[in-house]
Amino acid sequence: MSRIRTAVLISGRGSNMVALLRASQEPDYPADIQLVISNRPKAAGLERARELGVEAIAIDHKAFPDRESFEDALHGALVERGIEFVACAGFMRVLTPRFVTQWAGRLVNIHPSLLPKYKGLHTHRRALEAGDAQAGASVHWVVPEVDGGGVIAQAPVDIVEGDTQDSLAARVLERELTLYPDALAKAVSSLKS
Ligand code: GRF
Repeated sequence: MSRIRTAVLISGRGSNMVALLRASQEPDYPADIQLVISNRPKAAGLERARELGVEAIAIDHKAFPDRESFEDALHGALVERGIEFVACAGFMRVLTPRFVTQWAGRLVNIHPSLLPKYKGLHTHRRALEAGDAQAGASVHWVVPEVDGGGVIAQAPVDIVEGDTQDSLAARVLERELTLYPDALAKAVSSLKS
């Protein structure tokens, strides 16, 4: 069965992206990751992707006058390479409804909370402040409402006594690195059936 040509969008260190690339190196993994794009030229993840043999480019959002023209460049780069599916992994730009509609059903994201709880930023701080017993991460379809799309898979992480934002974030990230490859496989396979 042919694998789905996939791109990963990042903005920073790219640990989720590396986990996805490693999964994609398995020949029977359903997503074939061909491209990594960062909106930040200095993102450490770009070099990590190249080290793993994957094309990695920067499309600097600051070089464009508005979100639409940035997204046109992004869309163009994806289409040019025959990309069929896009996974956001620590990509810190809100995508417009126009772009999201162009990629509807082919665009997923990982968010560090148990959605629908704590959409948006500072998720771990909010979970700690609320006295929650658990935090976690969710992989979800991207829809125009930020962090509002259907959940594909989630991983809960217990909050323990003395947890700080950093300690919790580190434990959640560790779970993300197995959650996202599994969830991407599931999402891409839904496209094939
Ligand atoms: C992850 O915690 C992800 O859930 C959030 O941003 C972080 C990205 O980390 N959206 P990395 O770039 O994958 O290391």
